[in-house]
Amino acid sequence: EAAKKDGYDTFMLKEIHEQPHVIAETLRGRIHQQHIVLDELKDIDFSKFNKVYFVACGTAYHASLCGAHVLKKVAHLPVLSEVASEFRYNDPLIDEKTLAIFVSQSGETADTLAALRLAKEKKATTLAVANVLGSTISRDADYVLYTCAGPEIAVASTKAYTTQLVLLILLAYYIAQNLNQDVHDDVIKQLQLIPQYVDNILKDEPVFAQYAHMLKDMHDAYFIGRNLDYASVLEGALKLKEVSYVHADAYVAGELKHGPIALIEDGSVVIAVATQPHIAQKTISNIQETIARGARVILLTTHHEEVKNVQNTYYLPDVEPTLQAILVAIPLQLIAYYTACLKGCDVDKPRNLAKSVTVE
Ligand code: G6P
Repeated sequence: EAAKKDGYDTFMLKEIHEQPHVIAETLRGRIHQQHIVLDELKDIDFSKFNKVYFVACGTAYHASLCGAHVLKKVAHLPVLSEVASEFRYNDPLIDEKTLAIFVSQSGETADTLAALRLAKEKKATTLAVANVLGSTISRDADYVLYTCAGPEIAVASTKAYTTQLVLLILLAYYIAQNLNQDVHDDVIKQLQLIPQYVDNILKDEPVFAQYAHMLKDMHDAYFIGRNLDYASVLEGALKLKEVSYVHADAYVAGELKHGPIALIEDGSVVIAVATQPHIAQKTISNIQETIARGARVILLTTHHEEVKNVQNTYYLPDVEPTLQAILVAIPLQLIAYYTACLKGCDVDKPRNLAKSVTVE
């Protein structure tokens, strides 16, 4: 088993470090002359859809939220995202004009498979985004796109998540291209540079290991973000809960004042993500409200103006906002990982969790 870890202490850390490679693999062959090419989908007429549903569980659901956000923004299509265990009991509005996308690393999650069956009964066009070749979901859906994460052993998903993000972003721009929306050459160029950016962020691993000291003795942590950053903080909070057992919740930053701020007290830890330029300043104001109540803040941002009273600011590369969820995932994974290590947790096999949930 040690050999399979390639010299890393855990599978989770190994898989975190595999991300530049597996992201490059997921992009490989899918960009040609500044165009996104998804041959698997070439016979779909995207103009027939009046809505797109994203359905998934756990980390894959958070990737879906990001994918849905980007798709709406770049292809101007109405999108809905739902957790698979809710979807089928929630009277989904689905018909032959719906594109239903099911995201699953394993391709075997019971709730996601049941949701796929329901969408097919209701005559939607179904597309699976899966990692495991030949998995049930990839066989049952009308179309399939594979992430190229390779086998993911650690229960907490890392490389499967970032490759799902890459694929869903490729898909969003591919649909935009097909609907004749403007797709800037710059976005395509930056997408190709993502493995390099991820590699650079990984070099700052000691910074994130240091942040973990702020969390190791905490019972709770508060994650905040807006827009796409909200989907990122949902995943950041999930990762922390899963591996370190620190209770963590993610909030839309603007909702703090409607409740969660009541919990902030001297010494609370707030992890804020502010990568979306049009709204970063708003999140920064929310951070100040928590600092005024004694919070200690870790800020992950692209916003280069000095942020008052925040000692722990990490600057992410200033890439196209739609791509930021991929980059910010890396610090959030490493913060969770090192918090778990400092607490002596079994990082690869957290209590009560399974890699794949094949029962309802
Ligand atoms: C389990 C795993 C998670 C995963 C979720 C969905 O809860 O522990 O890491 O995100 O299932 O799994 P899937 O294979 O459908 O992506």
